[in-house]
Amino acid sequence: MTFKKHGLILFLLVLLSACGDSTVNTLQTDEPIIIKFPHVVAPGTPNGQTASRFEQLVEARFPGRVDVEVYPSGQLMTDDDSLEALAFGEIQMIAVSLSKFDRLTRAFQIFDLPFLFSNIAAVEHFQASDEGKSLLTALVDSGFLGLAFWHNGMKHFGAHIPLRLPNDAEGLRFRIMESDVLQAQMESIGGNPQKMAYGEVYQALQTGAIDAQENTWSNIYSSKFHEVQPYFMLSNHGYVGYFVAVNEQFWKSLPNDIRFGLEEIMVEVTEWGNARSIAMNDDSKEKLLATGRSEIVILTDQELEQWRMAVQPVWEQFSDEIGADLIEAAQISSN
Ligand code: SIN
Repeated sequence: MTFKKHGLILFLLVLLSACGDSTVNTLQTDEPIIIKFPHVVAPGTPNGQTASRFEQLVEARFPGRVDVEVYPSGQLMTDDDSLEALAFGEIQMIAVSLSKFDRLTRAFQIFDLPFLFSNIAAVEHFQASDEGKSLLTALVDSGFLGLAFWHNGMKHFGAHIPLRLPNDAEGLRFRIMESDVLQAQMESIGGNPQKMAYGEVYQALQTGAIDAQENTWSNIYSSKFHEVQPYFMLSNHGYVGYFVAVNEQFWKSLPNDIRFGLEEIMVEVTEWGNARSIAMNDDSKEKLLATGRSEIVILTDQELEQWRMAVQPVWEQFSDEIGADLIEAAQISSN
């Protein structure tokens, strides 16, 4: 999505939210309440499995009253389109990668700072802190109410050549998500970043339109990037996780018993999915290795230190926008 389009959406969101009636009417209908919930990854990924579990538990608890329609694998729309659709009430729930909210809030850029979080436990700790929890309401002015953060996992680089040192990335075209921090990260290692929707990555790798990408094992394996990419580096250099959000007006309009019930189920499935996300990614890594089509390059501590040093300027570049306090809170979580 272009900057202009994002800017327009932001303007419309703020306008919609400002015009919104604070006394929202409660939905009164004999028809089931429909919750359309699209996402772009495969059903077997952490996001896919947790979304399906939400659907199952909600429909078991509210039979005939609430119908959750999960659309996996980008069947219904791209992530960018889902932000717009949620704002306009065409869908009711999203779980979109935190990296894709750049034009709506700068605060989520914290999750893209390279090597900030050393593992999922550090992310979890930060998200559970007061500073982390405050991010759930960072987009209320735009009409998005955050219900939870769901983990995917840690990211690794993949390329048509082994990347042992940052210099190896010089001149490579890297697919990235819609994030200025990720753009700066790739530029800091001499790469040429290309913002691209997830659903286009396989073909771009296959045709050589891009040389490299970064993602989690579950996304890499389920999207079969190993068919078109021979080398994956165990770099653990960043995080992919999701902002699970609803249209705030829709949420406030739900009958109280349903809203409270859905919130309880959201807490339960978040714990369920987040507790399993590491195992799901490990499983994908093993399956990828078993295909015998790609090699996983293990980087030494000295090599990893060079990657860390190469991307360090990105922290300085974004520290004012993200906020030094937030970065400090995240660093404390990582220690
Ligand atoms: C996702 O995990 O939802 C997609 C991440 C990406 O676009 O790479």
